[in-house]
Amino acid sequence: MRVAVIGAGGMLGTDLMAVLGAEGVGLTHADVEVASRESVEAALPAEVDWVINTAAFHDVDGCEADPRRAFEVNALGALNVAATAAARGAGVVFLSTDYVFDGADPVPYGEDAAVAPLNVYGVSKVAGELAVRAATPRHLVVRSAYLFGKRRSGKGWNVVSGVVERARRGEPLTVATDLVFSPTYTADLARRIVMLLGHKVTGTVHVTNAGACTRLEFTRAVLEEAGLDAAIKQVSAAELPWRARRPLRSALASPLQERLGLPPLPGWRDGVRRYLKEELTS
Ligand SMILES: NC(=O)c1ccc[n+]([C@@H]2O[C@H](COP(=O)([O-])OP(=O)(O)OC[C@H]3O[C@@H](n4cnc5c(N)ncnc54)[C@H](OP(=O)(O)O)[C@@H]3O)[C@@H](O)[C@H]2O)c1
Repeated sequence: MRVAVIGAGGMLGTDLMAVLGAEGVGLTHADVEVASRESVEAALPAEVDWVINTAAFHDVDGCEADPRRAFEVNALGALNVAATAAARGAGVVFLSTDYVFDGADPVPYGEDAAVAPLNVYGVSKVAGELAVRAATPRHLVVRSAYLFGKRRSGKGWNVVSGVVERARRGEPLTVATDLVFSPTYTADLARRIVMLLGHKVTGTVHVTNAGACTRLEFTRAVLEEAGLDAAIKQVSAAELPWRARRPLRSALASPLQERLGLPPLPGWRDGVRRYLKEELTS
């Protein structure tokens, strides 16, 4: 199998390239601009079985401020990649998000739940999903959430390293107590995506570490696992100075993988522990 990974310098892209080894062809942002069809056509290898598109404009407040760019990257970019892959006889994997849901349902969202995004990022990702489905039946839309992992292109910020760095600087943390989600270690996500391709799964699938937590539980777990302490100011999501609305309860479940008999990924806290071990020892 020959698999092109777009966004190969990012968190998920880095882990996908590690899992794929010699089967992976990595394309960084320096190699390809997904918003440009010409750039995608020029960069994608002629002979490829799958293209995994991890490129995104996923700064949620940034998307709210710049909807045009959000749609250029997340929707038009998804179409450019999927249509080019299809023209080459390749399948496409598109990364999407729990933010396609409105978070009003207390039960974790399965793959068949109705989408109802609350912000521009979520709308642009729904548009990207639709574009991919329209471009080729040979697609896998993978919705995941709250990613943390190592980036090949420098360390960069993520939801775990952000907590660790602030705690190390002795800064207090302001944390919402009412946001529930399913955090996910990109190393686990990458392994599962490649496994799903091996099982020839197509359609839409939810992939997260097992379980769900509040942002407060997540922050406390990160501090404990890193052996750090920090003052935490507890607030509600409504009190945070965010430009974009966020879903309150966006935990994901995967009835599809249960039906296929695939085991759940390790729990989210286990993912945090393994990520910190890797990050802090490197
Ligand atoms: N992060 C999360 O919490 C989260 C949650 C749910 C779903 N997702 C989805 O999961 C996917 C992977 O996320 P991630 O956290 O691994 O992201 P990431 O670390 O930011 O990696 C994305 C990579 O794509 C590249 N890229 C950005 N815009 C591009 C463009 N227009 N053309 C080509 N390459 C571009 C970036 O390069 P530069 O940095 O050099 O621009 C970066 O290396 C995304 O589709 C995201 O929407 C993420």
